[in-house]
Amino acid sequence: MKLVKVKNYEELSAFAAEKILEKVRSSNRVSLGLATGGTPVRTYELLIDDFKKRKTSYQHVHTYNLDEYVGIAADAQTSYQYYMFEHLFNHIDIPKENVHLPNGTAENILQETQRYEDAIDKLKGVDLQLLGIGENGHIGFNEPGTPFDRTTHVTELEESTREANSRYFNSLDEVPTHAITMGIATILKSKEIVLLASGEKKAEALYQMFNGEISNNCPASVLRNHPNVIVVADEQAASKL
Ligand code: GLP
Repeated sequence: MKLVKVKNYEELSAFAAEKILEKVRSSNRVSLGLATGGTPVRTYELLIDDFKKRKTSYQHVHTYNLDEYVGIAADAQTSYQYYMFEHLFNHIDIPKENVHLPNGTAENILQETQRYEDAIDKLKGVDLQLLGIGENGHIGFNEPGTPFDRTTHVTELEESTREANSRYFNSLDEVPTHAITMGIATILKSKEIVLLASGEKKAEALYQMFNGEISNNCPASVLRNHPNVIVVADEQAASKL
């Protein structure tokens, strides 16, 4: 696992955007694993800026998001699908049919998790996976305790995760209790992973990720077993390293 320390959120976002652009330009068929949350917002803005200025095309890019809430309609403002269209897809030339997220309102949710896993498995993992990290060390929505061999599945969110994400909802009560998430085994199939951590709230999770045991108490620690991971941390997130 390689650590890249940068000064601040802007530099972190520029690094991530450049990595994504390199990948997008590298081949005529590219799969990207994408993340939501506050951290990648500026990265996506920089991709949009690049699209406006340099017209880097995404016609050949297929995206697979890490997770989606269960029970939130795809077109609701709080869905991760809505987030992705607002923050990125509406502003670049990616074909809609190339965009993949789990369907959190599927009638048969188990079948949906299998369908999603099969699609990623067919690629033998995405080419580049972008990750954030939860304050408790979660990746995607793989909370502490999730076995490392889980593939895409339905997970119950920790109270602390619901609270951290409640800023996107009118109240904590509205935050879903469950989500569909790529499993750790799904994430580990990725050919390359870039994890972004910004702010002092992430410092302890990063400390555990690098220095704690590789254990499901800190899901992100498993990334030490992957051959091609870059962790990009700003000064505050890296303050305990
Ligand atoms: C959510 C998402 C994760 C994300 C994490 C951190 O739980 N499911 O994919 O990495 O939040 O979010 P933020 O970047 O807002 O700190």
